[in-house]
Amino acid sequence: MLEGFNIREFQQDLLYWFERNLRDLPWRQDRDPYRIWVSEIMLQQTRVDTVIPYFNRFMERFPTLEVLAEAKEDEVLKLWEGLGYYSRARNLHAGVKEVSATYGGSVPDSPEEISKIKGVGPYTAGAILSIAYGKPEPAVDGNVMRVLSRLLLIEEDIQKVKTRKLFETQIRRLIATENPSYFNQALMELGALICTPKSPKCGYCPVQAHCRAQAEGVQANLPVKGKAKPPKPVGLSVAYIAKEDRFFIRKRPEQGLLAGLWELPSYEGDLDCLENQLHKEHELDVVRGAYLFHHQHTFSHLQWQMDVYSFKLEEDHVGENGRWVSWNELDQFTFPVSYQKILSQVKEFS
Ligand code: ADE
Ligand code: SF4
Repeated sequence: MLEGFNIREFQQDLLYWFERNLRDLPWRQDRDPYRIWVSEIMLQQTRVDTVIPYFNRFMERFPTLEVLAEAKEDEVLKLWEGLGYYSRARNLHAGVKEVSATYGGSVPDSPEEISKIKGVGPYTAGAILSIAYGKPEPAVDGNVMRVLSRLLLIEEDIQKVKTRKLFETQIRRLIATENPSYFNQALMELGALICTPKSPKCGYCPVQAHCRAQAEGVQANLPVKGKAKPPKPVGLSVAYIAKEDRFFIRKRPEQGLLAGLWELPSYEGDLDCLENQLHKEHELDVVRGAYLFHHQHTFSHLQWQMDVYSFKLEEDHVGENGRWVSWNELDQFTFPVSYQKILSQVKEFS
């Protein structure tokens, strides 16, 4: 795959460009593996511009691994609110506690040990090892696969696990061993700034002379991405139950989707089902109010079709997970984005 590819010149062209164009990002101020770990987790599925303020707030509150290890999960989630994919935050927190307990607070620098830590997959492991510790390990994410599939004209489906392994093998051959940190970050940076998903800026590309897709004019057709399954629609009935100036919210279970966040009570099923469940689970006897609105929220694997209804209360119970809250107490609870949006609409009805 690398026959005729001038690895040395490629490394030089890439690193020369990166050293002159690297963005001044808060996690590039030092090589603290903890800060790099947090940044890499935040940057998964989220853009650099969005991550920066979250990263800075997070570091202000949890400046070291030990401070984060001792934090309450609710507070960690609160600082993550809006970034989405909350399992990332819970796994990061669990992983950091593991490092504190097992490795005396220093992030391991060997592939074997670091890969065992909760929430540290092959990409995160490679990113920490190369950026913090200067180890020649691949860090292959979607951006890197896009860039490499074009450079080397690789037409394998990037959704397949096997393909990521193929890219890792190629990176092990390509990586600049004198500066693995910059090499990996340069590939990420190239993917973010030049070799973008739509209309890559090949005219400005520092490694254009090496690029096989560009030579053949097929860069727009790469990477090859098999069709993902469309998200499965799930109908939810959502209850806004008011009592004087308060309304009812509850904590989601500690396991599964959006674990441990808060929500308006919601059930798969229709309005009757909703009323039955409110009675069964929370001993809430409600008086039916109005249909308020429909809201749709799409995850990678499923799509919530949410119908929101208002209720008044007949009797008064709360149950274990429930709370009655006023609007100005709401920011003490972390809600998934879908419920944040619903609540801001509900507010107009209240
Ligand atoms: N995307 C993922 N990791 C990154 C990093 N370290 N710098 C910039 N963008 C990134
Ligand atoms: Fe990407 Fe174009 Fe550069 Fe090739 S020449 S790596 S397609 S930006």
